[in-house]
Amino acid sequence: MQLIDGKTVAAAVLAECQLEIADLLQKGIQPGLAVVLVGEDPASQVYVGSKVKTCAELGMHSKKIVLPAETTQEELLEVVRQLNADPAIHGILVQSPPPPHIHEDEIIRAIDPRKDVDGFHPENVAKLVLEDPTGFVPCTPAGSMRLLAAAGIDTNGAKVVVLGRSMIVGKPMALLLMSKNANATVTVAHSRSRDLPALCRQSDILIAAVGRPEMVKADWVRDGAVVIDVGINRVPDASKKSGFRLTGDVAFEEVAPKCKAITPVPGGVGPMTIAMLMKNTLQAARQLG
Ligand code: GUN
Repeated sequence: MQLIDGKTVAAAVLAECQLEIADLLQKGIQPGLAVVLVGEDPASQVYVGSKVKTCAELGMHSKKIVLPAETTQEELLEVVRQLNADPAIHGILVQSPPPPHIHEDEIIRAIDPRKDVDGFHPENVAKLVLEDPTGFVPCTPAGSMRLLAAAGIDTNGAKVVVLGRSMIVGKPMALLLMSKNANATVTVAHSRSRDLPALCRQSDILIAAVGRPEMVKADWVRDGAVVIDVGINRVPDASKKSGFRLTGDVAFEEVAPKCKAITPVPGGVGPMTIAMLMKNTLQAARQLG
C-alpha cells in the first residue's frame, strides 16, 4: 500500500509557486489574494487562516476580511465590488459555506471572473467544461488530480467513481477526470444512487467527497484500488484537547490495507487545496498583468 503524502506534493507545488512569484515580482507585479469570511464557523476560520499564512510565507500580498455573521447580502456584495476594483488584488475567495441568509450564487456571480480563483463563477465553470486553460480550476479537484499524477496513477481508460456531486468538488472532479488530459471513464455517485457499495467496488479509482465521516467501508473498495479521500470531518474525541479529531470520508484503518494507494486525512488532499489556490492566484496575476 502506497500512502500518498499531500504535504510533500503540496511543498513541491509551493516551490513552483516561489519561482513564479520571483518572476512576477521582477515584472513589478506582487500577486495578491483576498479571503473573505462571513461568520464564525471554526473550520472555516482555520482554512482562511492557513490561506493567508501561506500567502505571507511565499511573499504574496493578502487581505483577510472577516465579517460578522449578520452581514447582509448587500454589504457582502459591496465588499466583493471593492475587491473587484482593487488593483492590488488578483484573486478573490469568499469562504464557503456562508451563513444561511446569504445567497451564495449571487455572491459568486458578483466576483470578477478574472479574479475568481475558486473557479466557481459560471464563466469559469464553462471554461472547465470547454477545457479552456484560461479558466480557473477549483482548487480541491485540481489538487486531487495533481496527487494522482504525483503518485504515478494513470487515469487513462480507468474506471473512476466520484462519490459526491458538489459544486466545489464532485462535479468539477468528474469533468477533470473525463477531460482529454485524463481520459477516465467516470461515474458520479451520490446519496440517491442505488447500491453505493457495489457501484464503488467497480472502480479502479475512488474519489470520496461526500462529507460523511468514514462512510466508505472496506467492502466498498476493490482490492488494489486507488482511493482519494477528500473529506475533512470533525468528530468528537474526548481524548483530544480540542475535543475533536479529523477524519475523512473513508474508514482509513479498514480500507487502506486493500488499496494500491490512498490519501490520509489529515495530510492528503487538504494541503493540496491551499497550494492550488496559490497557483490559481498566480495565474490570475499573470493573466491580469
Ligand atoms: N469551503 C470548502 N472548500 C472551499 C473552497 O475550495 N473554496 C471556498 N471558497 N470555500 C470552501
